Amino acid sequence: MKKVDLSPKISTFPMPVAVISVGTGEDANLITLAYVGKVCFDPPIIAISIQPKRYSFHLIEKYGEFVINYPTIEQLRESDYCGTRSGREVNKWKKLNLTKQDASVIQVPMIKEFPWNMECKVIKRIELGSHICYFGKVVATHSDPIYVKNETLDPEKFNFPVYISSNYLELKKGVLAKHGFTLDSSF
Ligand SMILES: Cc1cc2nc3c(=O)[nH]c(=O)nc-3n(C[C@H](O)[C@H](O)[C@H](O)COP(=O)(O)O)c2cc1C
Repeated sequence: MKKVDLSPKISTFPMPVAVISVGTGEDANLITLAYVGKVCFDPPIIAISIQPKRYSFHLIEKYGEFVINYPTIEQLRESDYCGTRSGREVNKWKKLNLTKQDASVIQVPMIKEFPWNMECKVIKRIELGSHICYFGKVVATHSDPIYVKNETLDPEKFNFPVYISSNYLELKKGVLAKHGFTLDSSF
């Protein structure tokens, strides 16, 4: 197979479109992030990376907590808005008619209208270069029940947008196979 060499800057794929809440009360802000990934199962830890020039940076530094809110495809406009405007200039909650919902463990509010919310407490931060990486321990997760099966995200119902090469994508074809399908006797 012939291959082309690419820049090491090429990322893993797909990345999520995640709208993160940071700050509390009147200070609360929203920022869209694609640099979001699960890095540990027990305890459950998710890493997010934020550039220090973002307005949200000082809020995560100040409060040490954040919420990962996942939008549906229909909420893509709100998600792009939160990733292209700064909380320095606009109150994104008010502009987008989004409601602050009290989280169950942390002080940072969740987005009520978004179907999937994970409350996280920062347990570690690493300055990597362009981004500061925050490791958040997930202390509570909430979902619209239609997306849940066997206490986890139902892959058949999943319709959250994903992000590849500066474009938003919809994952259309659905499940290919179940984890471990090669353990079956035909292999
Ligand atoms: C799809 C998408 C993904 C993004 N991912 C990141 C990211 O992972 N880290 C980051 O620092 N900024 C990321 N951004 C840029 C910020 O969301 C954007 O600069 C935002 O306006 C910052 O808001 P704030 O100044 O209110 O914090 C992303 C933007 C979009 C649209």
